[in-house]
Amino acid sequence: MISVETVADLRQQVAQWRGAGQSIALVPTMGNLHQGHLELMRRAQGLADRVIASIFVNPMQFGEGEDLDAYPRTLLDDADKLSSIGVDLLFSPPEQEVYSKPLSEQTIVQVPGLSDLLCGESRPGHFTGVTTVVCKLFNMVQPDTAVFGKKDYQQLMLIRQMCEDLCIPVKIEGLPTVREVDGLARSSRNGYLSDAERSIAPLLYQTLQETARAVVTEDRGGNYAGLEAQAKERLAAGGFRPDYYTIRRAADLQMPGSREKRLVILAAAYLGKSRLIDNLEITLD
Ligand code: PAF
Repeated sequence: MISVETVADLRQQVAQWRGAGQSIALVPTMGNLHQGHLELMRRAQGLADRVIASIFVNPMQFGEGEDLDAYPRTLLDDADKLSSIGVDLLFSPPEQEVYSKPLSEQTIVQVPGLSDLLCGESRPGHFTGVTTVVCKLFNMVQPDTAVFGKKDYQQLMLIRQMCEDLCIPVKIEGLPTVREVDGLARSSRNGYLSDAERSIAPLLYQTLQETARAVVTEDRGGNYAGLEAQAKERLAAGGFRPDYYTIRRAADLQMPGSREKRLVILAAAYLGKSRLIDNLEITLD
């Protein structure tokens, strides 16, 4: 696997592959790679001739008190994992390479509306940081395709919207969430859970499944407030501190109408200090 840290080296290698007529897929990450990330890489390998993984812990998407410094940085171990599955290139730029100016002086990319809902409401500025860095990575790599996980459902929608609005010619692939055997969505944040919290954590996905069953079997005419409240109570009783739990229209994350066919249940809840998110898509007949 080739490993580069500068945009100049990255572009030189990309130009070589482009010259040979090869297509390129990018998988952006913040490192601390787990099975979920490796699934994204494997999928990318099926979509393009060359796969580039980026590892960059993006300071712009961390809010005050979100402890950017404590975010696990495991570059050597991550590089081994990427190399073992045949990723072609690892791009791991230092902060100066991505942000040459103080963050407050950077041009930003902001998707209005969608950035302010749900996780955006709880983490102001977070999604501006995400779309800014993803736009920069797209400009640096200029991939044909980029692959993201559906666990970060709102993030995936924002990136799609950004590409559409800014005419960015990158095809966005969203992949199903990779789960542990007990249903917990794979996430770098799971590493922060104590043993006791880890044993409680699967309740989040179980609750999503239970809500989905109720949505499918009972006709509520689009009024899901009761189900959402029940689910929050269940999570709180189990040891979580729910942030939001909501059933939305899958197309745009707005409140669903009474005849909506494609829905998504989205949840964020604290377990100790960790904030876990998960979601479940539902299609009604
Ligand atoms: O999902 C992530 O790991 C990050 O938000 C991303 C897309 C790599 C941008 O920093």
